[in-house]
Amino acid sequence: MLVPEGSLKWDILRTTSSTFNFTSGDWQANFASQNNMLFRGHTLVWHEALPAWFPQTANGQNAERILREHITTVVGHYAGKMHSWDVVNEVIASWYGLPNGMRPSPWLTFLGESYIDTAFRAAAAADPDALLVFNMNHLEYNSQGVKNMRVDTLKCLRRLKDANVPVHALGIQAHLDPNDGSFNAGEFRIFLQDVAGLGLKIMITELDVTDQSLPGDITVRDLTVAGMYEEFLSVALENPNVIAVLTWGLSDKYTWLSTYKARKDNAAVRPLPLDENFNRKLAWNAIARTFDKAPRR
Ligand code: G3I
Repeated sequence: MLVPEGSLKWDILRTTSSTFNFTSGDWQANFASQNNMLFRGHTLVWHEALPAWFPQTANGQNAERILREHITTVVGHYAGKMHSWDVVNEVIASWYGLPNGMRPSPWLTFLGESYIDTAFRAAAAADPDALLVFNMNHLEYNSQGVKNMRVDTLKCLRRLKDANVPVHALGIQAHLDPNDGSFNAGEFRIFLQDVAGLGLKIMITELDVTDQSLPGDITVRDLTVAGMYEEFLSVALENPNVIAVLTWGLSDKYTWLSTYKARKDNAAVRPLPLDENFNRKLAWNAIARTFDKAPRR
């Protein structure tokens, strides 16, 4: 399955408030189609990657129109071609202390929490065949902050389901970091069961393992990274509602972590299943083992 890292975000799609630039998104959609790959969209509503005109243009009076127009146009453009859409991304951020753990954003400011409902309903109307995903970060580990994120995420999903909002899946980004505290298999297993209990599918949407804080020795880093892939996916794939696992990039040569989580020793980072020459690493083997052992679904 192919998911564009940037071409379906506002800053790439919406060069002006009245234009849509589908050039790179169309290239990737065609690439997926020509190579018999599924194609998924990321992301329709986010607090980041907003174009420069947005803060100068959006306000309480026009925000809903802008949101609906964006989703209707973009989802309509790719209707019938999409496995799924990340309709909203990272909308829960419990550490801000806002009601229901909402993340501050222009959407929340202008429209209140119901912008989420509006977004899913507009996406469903524009493409009834796409799986509509509530994509979230910071759900994997066991710090109190992450436990709060799981509680607030479940509460929001339950509210949406009770309101018959067409949300079909939770996307768990799974940007794993040995520094994020302990991974508690039991706690994470229960969380997945609670999500599945709402009738939702689950997708692991942006899996990678940063080695920013690991020792310099490449063998040690590769073993530790592979171990984290195996530990996490073994638990995730026990749940039959987990329908997809996507890494965020394939090769260490092209990873956001080179920029956003660079190593202090300036060594090239090694977070992904393939190295900079697209050769398989221990992480690839670890992922393959978890797929082999996973219950069929
Ligand atoms: O395309 C332009 C290029 O023309 C320009 O020369 C260059 C320098 O300004 O910027 C390029 O755009 C960059 C884009 O990545 C390229 O794909 C943006 O500046 C840069 O901000 C953008 O970063 C992306 C980031 O999201 C923000 O959109 C990362 O690649 C991408 O990995 C990251 O992905 C996010 C997910 O969407 C949500 N979950 C977390 C994940 C990691 O932060």
